[in-house]
Amino acid sequence: MAGQIIDGKQVAADMRAELKEEVAKLKEQGIVPGLGVILVGEDPASKSYVTAKERACEELGIYSDDNRLPADTAQEDLIALVNRMNNDPKINGILVQLPLPKGLNESEVLLAIDPDKDVDGFHPMNVGKMMVGEKAFLPCTPHGVIQLLLRSGVSIKGANVVIVGRSNIVGKPLANMLIQKNDKGNATVTVCHTRTKDLAHHTKQADIIIAAAGRPNTVTTDMVKDGVVVIDVGVNRVEDATKKRGYRLVGDVDFEQVKEKASLITPVPGGVGPMTITMLLYNTVESAKRAAGLVSDE
Ligand code: GUN
Repeated sequence: MAGQIIDGKQVAADMRAELKEEVAKLKEQGIVPGLGVILVGEDPASKSYVTAKERACEELGIYSDDNRLPADTAQEDLIALVNRMNNDPKINGILVQLPLPKGLNESEVLLAIDPDKDVDGFHPMNVGKMMVGEKAFLPCTPHGVIQLLLRSGVSIKGANVVIVGRSNIVGKPLANMLIQKNDKGNATVTVCHTRTKDLAHHTKQADIIIAAAGRPNTVTTDMVKDGVVVIDVGVNRVEDATKKRGYRLVGDVDFEQVKEKASLITPVPGGVGPMTITMLLYNTVESAKRAAGLVSDE
């Protein structure tokens, strides 16, 4: 079966159009959602993600307060900036791009963010609320993965889902979200990782595979069953002398081969990536509505 490709750019564009309308309506009531963005250092991938996030804000009419700091920024100065944003009523969401340069304490910085402005969903308060099924900001990449599945007509309820990767940003929160007793969950989830004894044994049972290992060719065609749904979260740079920039982007899945067996599959780029940013914008708009008392915490 040759798989159909899930067009993440299109799904993201549809959601952004909905959000743009919502932002315009909020503006009529004098509410302008605002996102505070902090990038520390010069990591090229982080720089391009942050630029894309700032552009997306502009496109939707969301105010963004952009801060680019040198790699040798002191921990106290970074925390002071987070605190300034915590106290700024124009800012509804705070995004500190990860990873932070060596020498900075990531967990201390995430803890300093006001949980009510934690639109990344990384604060332990939001992680805990999400885990026990209370309303919380959902982390953007896992939430984007779930939206891609739902908006492509995939039934999550009762599905055997295999997640490859156990990061704090993707694997762990996604597993938690997929086992919740709600309309985004009710799946049977297996989380595989670098110490899993026989990865193929697990992936062969999967109705849905979510690859988030950070390594090309982690999932190959011999490891999947016919008709599987494959979501590729990986973004890996591989050298390519035919490209002007000297590299190309690939996911964690051998896309060309696996697409022949899959019923649905996401490409890289153009799959999960555009959804991550979209869910960040979604959370920022939600936060602005909560701050204005337009939605309850229930
Ligand atoms: N680094 C990689 N993904 C993310 C993300 O979703 N949010 C932040 N803040 N940093 C990241």
